[in-house]
Amino acid sequence: MTHSLKGRDLISIADLSKPEIQDVLTQAAQFEQRLARGETMHLCEGRILATVFYEPSTRTRLSFESAMHRLGGRIISVAEARTSSSAAKGETIEDSARMLAAYADVIVQRHPAVGSARALADAADVPVINAGDGTGEHPTQALLDLYTIEREKGGLDGLQIAMVGDLKNGRTVHSLAKALAHWRVTLDFVSPPELAMPARLVDELQEQGVRVHQTDDMQAALAEADVAYITRIQQERFVSPDEYLRYKGVYVITAEVVRQAKPGIVVLHPLPRVDEIATDVDALPNAAYFRQARNGVYVRMALLAMVLGAV
Ligand code: NCD
Repeated sequence: MTHSLKGRDLISIADLSKPEIQDVLTQAAQFEQRLARGETMHLCEGRILATVFYEPSTRTRLSFESAMHRLGGRIISVAEARTSSSAAKGETIEDSARMLAAYADVIVQRHPAVGSARALADAADVPVINAGDGTGEHPTQALLDLYTIEREKGGLDGLQIAMVGDLKNGRTVHSLAKALAHWRVTLDFVSPPELAMPARLVDELQEQGVRVHQTDDMQAALAEADVAYITRIQQERFVSPDEYLRYKGVYVITAEVVRQAKPGIVVLHPLPRVDEIATDVDALPNAAYFRQARNGVYVRMALLAMVLGAV
């Protein structure tokens, strides 16, 4: 490895340079091959990962834990940290950080507050990986999204990528858009105007030379897109149920929508889906979201092994 991530935190995808991102993806591909050969690995033997989740998760937590097991390491976990950790007694993130760092060699945290991962990392003297900080960022999802797009499309340069749904509150699209800015891509942001990509992020992307279009017309965007990255309306970020219901169901991808889109379009979704991708899409070759979720294990193996200095 030319670019060492040993001992580093991953809070924002902007913490990684393009060569560092490429190193993670290369390492992930190696791990994918080794697992396919049925290899048992011991690279992280004797090391402990702590997963601390203050918000629901299936894929992110379990794929991190699966990744650590695949590397021969061990895990300790607080699955429902909001109610079952000492946070419920009023312990601060900073105090939790000191304890977690005493018990584990690397910490993965998901928390509803933007900036919470930074706060944890500042107080912990072991690497901290942000598994989602509210509406902020989700950098490891961006890495597995990049890995998947490269796999499905054979590369990233020259692609037109449509991001659809709740771009205001969705942390996955925030991190993914920033990550894609390292490549020559066109980004189409498709959302109701009220759920648009934060203006500051759009400005940042344009300053970096990314071509950005914003629209609320999904079908028009998908007619030109190589990749459709669909997201869930983030119910938990709305102040009232009525407000959520106003946007729920505003974009629904069906097999018919895919047939009218650009031929060969790859449909991604960080999951969980609610109603934004109809199940009749699942059987189409374009549907890559379950392969995408599987890729999370390889990418998280790479990241854990790298921050622990095991590769
Ligand atoms: C996403 C998340 O938690 O931000 N899920 C995930 O990590 N795969 C997307 C979502 O919850 O909508």
